[in-house]
Amino acid sequence: MEELGKLVVIDQGHVGLPLSMRAAEVGWRVVGLDVDEHRVARLATGESCVDDVSDDQLRDALDGGRYRPTASYTGAEGFDVAVVTVPTSPREGTPGLTAVTEAARGLAPYLRAGATVILESTTYPGTTEELFGPTLEAGSRLVAGRDFRLGYSPERLDPGNRTWRLANTPKVVSGVDRASLAAVQGFFDTIAARTVPVSSTRAAEFAKLVEGAFRQVNIALVNELAMVAGELGVDVWEAIDAAATKPYGFMRFTPGPGVGGHWLPLDPSGPPWQTGRGAGRSPRFLELARDINDQMPEYVVRRAGQLLNDRGRPVRGSRVLLLGLSYKKNTGDVGESPAVRIATLLARLGADVRAADPHVDPAQVCAPVRLVELDEAELAAADLVVVLVDHDLFPRGLVSRFARAVLDTRRWLPPGPAVPAQRRAPDAESLIVPASAWVESL
Ligand SMILES: NC(=O)c1ccc[n+]([C@@H]2O[C@H](COP(=O)([O-])OP(=O)(O)OC[C@H]3O[C@@H](n4cnc5c(N)ncnc54)[C@H](O)[C@@H]3O)[C@@H](O)[C@H]2O)c1
Repeated sequence: MEELGKLVVIDQGHVGLPLSMRAAEVGWRVVGLDVDEHRVARLATGESCVDDVSDDQLRDALDGGRYRPTASYTGAEGFDVAVVTVPTSPREGTPGLTAVTEAARGLAPYLRAGATVILESTTYPGTTEELFGPTLEAGSRLVAGRDFRLGYSPERLDPGNRTWRLANTPKVVSGVDRASLAAVQGFFDTIAARTVPVSSTRAAEFAKLVEGAFRQVNIALVNELAMVAGELGVDVWEAIDAAATKPYGFMRFTPGPGVGGHWLPLDPSGPPWQTGRGAGRSPRFLELARDINDQMPEYVVRRAGQLLNDRGRPVRGSRVLLLGLSYKKNTGDVGESPAVRIATLLARLGADVRAADPHVDPAQVCAPVRLVELDEAELAAADLVVVLVDHDLFPRGLVSRFARAVLDTRRWLPPGPAVPAQRRAPDAESLIVPASAWVESL
């Protein structure tokens, strides 16, 4: 395979590692840089740290000499292309652009004339030209556009999505000038099946804002409709499915326990940040959507309390088993996960909270919840099972056979009485599922 050049990817997280692997696969000599030395050491032994990259894929790249992880910027020496994917989640209301600035400062001494630097992190419109570029220029004494190529390409990674991967998802690309756009597009043409050029880095940054806002608002809309339908005694899932038969002018979104992950709950491009950046108006729609989505964990806890109450049990002292702790199906990422908030709220009310999630690393969970194996005994001992994430690995049949009461936030099980009503655990003397077993949807 022809070698395409030297690529540095800063960092090696959910976005950076899959990009590094894909680039190595198509012929780039990749240096994967991350400040976390422990992570770098694990990667060097072939141990992946994200769901979307398997150990085998990582070992292939290492063994073929096409990938080298490092914690030192000296590894960037002589790079042709650098892609920065560092985290940008705000902390306490201020945008988390420290890592973006640090990455630019770290790269600058190794930036040569003719090289290309691309920012991919989710950020507010203007970051590439106002912050990232000037920091590179200050540290390198080179000028973006004239001496080196600079651009922005928003990340569209959807962790756990087996259909839409980096290779087949169209990639929006931009540059600070024509030559930069050509260089950024040229790089991503080697990675993705299709690139979509836009006229400026600001337009590309705004495209990411449009995509995120679209999801935030539509999720909030169905979540609010679910709460209203619940009050009216209407099955919102049935109504959504019926509405979705309209062949035009409708897109199906479903309710859930809230939003999580790296973009939707916290993003530096959204309020309150954007408001102060001269947009001239407050993005009320986004604020409202965020508020509604933020309320969902409290709503789920209230519904759980009602279900327990209906069965004559207070939340205090009840055993509640949560199915899923990650923010998203088929991933182990607990970043800003509403499930973690629900666990915390239930524990605060005095429930004995347990959670089963085959994808989640227990070391990543900071919540008063005990991670358990999902088996008959745990299901049968729980006063209430709450389905928060519909991982493909969860055994539907086992849950409907052994759970006594289920609050299902994903319409994973059919609502109503669970079947079969009476069943014995293999080694138990007594019937463990009473005839009143019940599944209720959000
Ligand atoms: N994960 C997603 O689904 C997703 C999707 C679209 C966009 N994004 C965006 O991509 C960016 C990265 O998100 P992520 O999910 O990959 O983050 P992540 O939490 O998976 O990765 C964080 C990694 O960055 C490293 N790191 C932190 N500061 C660093 C620095 N200064 N230099 C080098 N490495 C550093 C950490 O050690 C860690 O390994 C964010 O802007 C996020 O909003 C993420």
